[in-house]
Amino acid sequence: MSAPNPKETAGRRAAEMVEDGMTVGLGTGSTVHFTLLRLAERIRDEGLKLIGVPTSIDTETKARELGIPLATLDDVDAIDLTIDGADEVDPAFNLTKGGGGALLREKVVAHISKREAVVVGRAKLVERLGTTFLLPVEVVPFARPVVAREISCLGADPILRQGASGEPYLTDNGNEILDCKFPDGIADPAQLELALDRIPGVVESGLFVGLAHALVIGNDDGSCEVRELPN
Ligand code: A5P
Repeated sequence: MSAPNPKETAGRRAAEMVEDGMTVGLGTGSTVHFTLLRLAERIRDEGLKLIGVPTSIDTETKARELGIPLATLDDVDAIDLTIDGADEVDPAFNLTKGGGGALLREKVVAHISKREAVVVGRAKLVERLGTTFLLPVEVVPFARPVVAREISCLGADPILRQGASGEPYLTDNGNEILDCKFPDGIADPAQLELALDRIPGVVESGLFVGLAHALVIGNDDGSCEVRELPN
């Protein structure tokens, strides 16, 4: 028998949080992949009714193939629950996201979600953001040199993300990504998020501050912890 996969454990467990009739934000990534599989099972086996709002073309494609009913932001005013992955989670439930390039749509969906549950393996829990993962910043291609210089002034080293054949990686929105290395990590995520937002040409950063309400943490032994944001 193969070892338990913490992503699968967390992803499947979070799908149990979905209740009949909910509008559900569908995040992006290899952990949410298991959430989609479990939701499809529940739709088939229990007759669960839900409407999903995907955060990327990849998730939209997978959800369609699995028969999960979908809507766009034109169709919904609010989302009951979003289930999404993260690249790092700090003790205050602040996140870095965007390893898969979907940060902008993920943040828009999180913004209108009443509740956001973050699915991760325990290895994603960190004391300080930016220490195990580069921070993705989505930029308009025209502005990229300007943005890169401004980010350097903030003390980071911005690296242009590349696609499979060496060309600049493009997001679902036709933008580029600068993956930013902060030598000592990110001391103040809220302040950095504001500083990045003030640079013309920055579309969005992968810093998610105050958006997560619950963590669903998969462990190596196949167990799972659900942690609620303390009041
Ligand atoms: C997508 O752009 C990201 O924000 C993902 O949610 C994040 O990278 C987590 O991905 P995995 O679940 O694949 O680790």
